[in-house]
Amino acid sequence: MNLKQMVGIEASKYVKDGMIVGLGTGSTAYYMIEELGRRVKEENLQIVGVPTSIASKKQAEGLGIPVKTIDEVPYVDLTIDGADEIDPDFGGIKGGGAALLFEKIVATYSKKVIWIVDQSKMVPTLGKFPLPIEVIPYGHQQVLKQFSDLGWQPSLRKNAAGEIVVTDCGHYIIDLHLEKIDDTHKLAKQLDTIVGVVEHGLFLDMVHTVIIGTPEGVKTIH
Ligand code: 5RP
Repeated sequence: MNLKQMVGIEASKYVKDGMIVGLGTGSTAYYMIEELGRRVKEENLQIVGVPTSIASKKQAEGLGIPVKTIDEVPYVDLTIDGADEIDPDFGGIKGGGAALLFEKIVATYSKKVIWIVDQSKMVPTLGKFPLPIEVIPYGHQQVLKQFSDLGWQPSLRKNAAGEIVVTDCGHYIIDLHLEKIDDTHKLAKQLDTIVGVVEHGLFLDMVHTVIIGTPEGVKTIH
């Protein structure tokens, strides 16, 4: 069993009958959704899933997990998601899989959020992983220039075929190659004020528990 699978299975133990569960996105969240699907089938677990991407929605539906959108539920009991980097204060960077907008909306309306990662994602300071910024296509070149003028080393995300990556909501992603973010809250506030920015991948003060996969086993921190 690989580390991502280990933490996916461990996190699924926090899911109880009757819960409304936010279903994260990515290669780690994939294993958590698989395990929930197994429990729905084999243990008759009764849950409603709120997927954070088209990919997670398709996966959950394929496994027989009933799904609703965030607007069809009163709240979310628990969201389980992956992350790209996590600092000691449980601040994180997300959006490596381009699903940060729905992920942040679902996390915001969740009573509890758990992140599942392998130990390589735990860092002393955020920023080595490029910070994803979701932007409106109209005017994105102007936003890119603004980011560049600010010294943020931006790049417009493209796929292997060289095509611009389009998110589930029809937006683009600009990755900021910052290397090190000294003040995450200050940067988050600044990004919130830039016209054309829909959302950024800094997830601060949102997470309650982190489940880390290590070669020695699973480590859970609160
Ligand atoms: C998608 C995300 C993912 O949770 C993040 O990129 C981690 O993915 P993985 O588990 O595949 O490493 O934020 O937008």
